[in-house]
Amino acid sequence: MLIETIARVALQAAERSGRVLCRCFGNLSRIDKKGRIDLVTEADLASEKAVVDTIRAHFPDHAILSEESGRSGKNDHATWIIDPLDGTTNFAHNLPVFAVSIAYAEDGVVRHGTILNPARGELFQASTGQGASLNGRPIRVSNVSRLDSALLMTGFPYDLDKTLDAILERLKTCLATVQGVRRPGAAALDLCDVACGRCEGFWEERLKPWDTAAGALIVSEAGGRVTDFNGSPFLPEMPAILATNGAIHQELADLLETAAV
Ligand code: IPD
Ligand code: CA
Ligand code: CA
Repeated sequence: MLIETIARVALQAAERSGRVLCRCFGNLSRIDKKGRIDLVTEADLASEKAVVDTIRAHFPDHAILSEESGRSGKNDHATWIIDPLDGTTNFAHNLPVFAVSIAYAEDGVVRHGTILNPARGELFQASTGQGASLNGRPIRVSNVSRLDSALLMTGFPYDLDKTLDAILERLKTCLATVQGVRRPGAAALDLCDVACGRCEGFWEERLKPWDTAAGALIVSEAGGRVTDFNGSPFLPEMPAILATNGAIHQELADLLETAAV
């Protein structure tokens, strides 16, 4: 499949989702819970419908893995991986830090990623071997190489009570060593922020493929490095992610390792 065709459909789907999300933002009439702190709103569902309908209209035989509706379609070769609303908790609190994330994978390898932050009008795109862009302009990771000058981002899984000590230990170790740590609340955007050099690294555990598939490609196409916590090359089915500008990767991986409880 021509990657330009994939990118065009991904963009169309992201723009439709962006219109839906902007319409719903500040106007939610329904917020349900999937877990103690795991929310789903009508915006997640409406955005998902907009994205899935767009992809289905162009590629009815492709498989889709999307957060709210799960897996659909049988195609071992071509799969779309979708987070229709990344940053649902922010969205439900009217905090404008959220995105739609769309990835396309062939034979298990992510070939294209599109992430749209509609509140800021920021569109991140990457296709394998073609670099990454923000609103059509090429982006690169930062060249900060010292941890004491590095700004990092992280996130916390909804089932954080399962491994709260380990999560806090990693956070504590990083806070004591780096310039700053932020928790903005949308993993896809955290990865985009690494890709365009606004921060030097991002780590989180127990993420799902829809949180990371597009963003991980955007970071690597922007010149960064993406692995799991042990340094193995990242795949979307891996729950732990460490994405950096490359320059601080090993030192940060070692630091997270020392924090293991
Ligand atoms: C969540 C966000 C958050 C991260 C969570 C994710 P959602 O995704 O990306 O930043 O910390 O682990 O589940 O539920 O808003 O799509
Ligand atoms: Ca998500
Ligand atoms: Ca989501």
